[in-house]
Amino acid sequence: MDEKKITVKSPANIAFIKYWGQKDEKEIIPYNDSFSMNLSHCFTMVTVELQEDAVIQELYIKDYKSTVFERSTGESLKRVIDFYSKVRSLLDAKAVFGFRIYSENSFPKKAGIASSASFFSGLTRAFLKGFGMELPERQISILARLSGSGSACRSIPDGFCWWKKGKNSATSYAETIAPPDFWALRDIVLILSSREKTVSSQEGHRYAKTSPFFFPRLKGIARRTESIRRAFFRKDLEEFGAILEQETISLHTVMMTQSPPLYYWSGKTIETIKKIVQFRKKGIPHYFTIDAGENIHIICEKKDEKRIAEYYKNQPEVEEILINYPVVGSRILS
Ligand code: PMV
Repeated sequence: MDEKKITVKSPANIAFIKYWGQKDEKEIIPYNDSFSMNLSHCFTMVTVELQEDAVIQELYIKDYKSTVFERSTGESLKRVIDFYSKVRSLLDAKAVFGFRIYSENSFPKKAGIASSASFFSGLTRAFLKGFGMELPERQISILARLSGSGSACRSIPDGFCWWKKGKNSATSYAETIAPPDFWALRDIVLILSSREKTVSSQEGHRYAKTSPFFFPRLKGIARRTESIRRAFFRKDLEEFGAILEQETISLHTVMMTQSPPLYYWSGKTIETIKKIVQFRKKGIPHYFTIDAGENIHIICEKKDEKRIAEYYKNQPEVEEILINYPVVGSRILS
């Protein structure tokens, strides 16, 4: 095999209805559908250099704002190697290749902005290309789900994506429900801290069921999912935002009450939530959502983006803001 280099650009996504807990831990089948938007300015560039020598299996990461790639070992590398073997065996691929992977983020990793979704969705496309396989988008989404970062399946299709929980591996995948230009929403990420979380979402999912609120959450989620979908297609931000915030609180109630508990929020998170509730009263509609980290995503419309960004940029607890609009899913660039 000639040495080949594949570069993929893959977006992170923000979930409006969240995936938390796995019905089938091996196949990464969720308990509920989830719904998200791909982010324009939070993405990972994944470059895979295929090596003839199959023994070479290396991972290099350039952190946000860093200028150098650093070699990664331990758990991160293990996940990549396991995923390579999984893709190869699922595809029944005859080819073998070694790899040097270079991953570069446009945002802080492991801070509640879905860096594993952007990385693994990109890696899925790169490995497929490496094996010389072209698959329908649905199959690619299924493979990305099996990376271990289930939400990676939502970074494969374009725009606003729906992950159907499905009944088994073949029926659990994400697809576009509306293209990026359907609604000019913005996700203004408020970076309160770029420090890395100590417990990954992968580990968090495992203990979700230990929360006494896990099954009550699932009871309410079908109704919330249906209502947010309707509000989305009506572009009713007020209704959409109210459900978005309920969903966020529901998720974090489970996280904080599972065993061991996960306290992703910091003092700055709660302080900022209160500011959002206050500032909204000035008649500027914007709503919060939070994934597995302390940073806050503000969802608003394009017309209010500047005022909102200006206000939060100047708050002392906000280190930085990243403004995102909806975009296409992961793409091979070269
Ligand atoms: O896909 P994972 O294992 O990285 O878990 C994602 C979990 C949340 O970000 C909290 C929710 C979601 O649906 O994105």
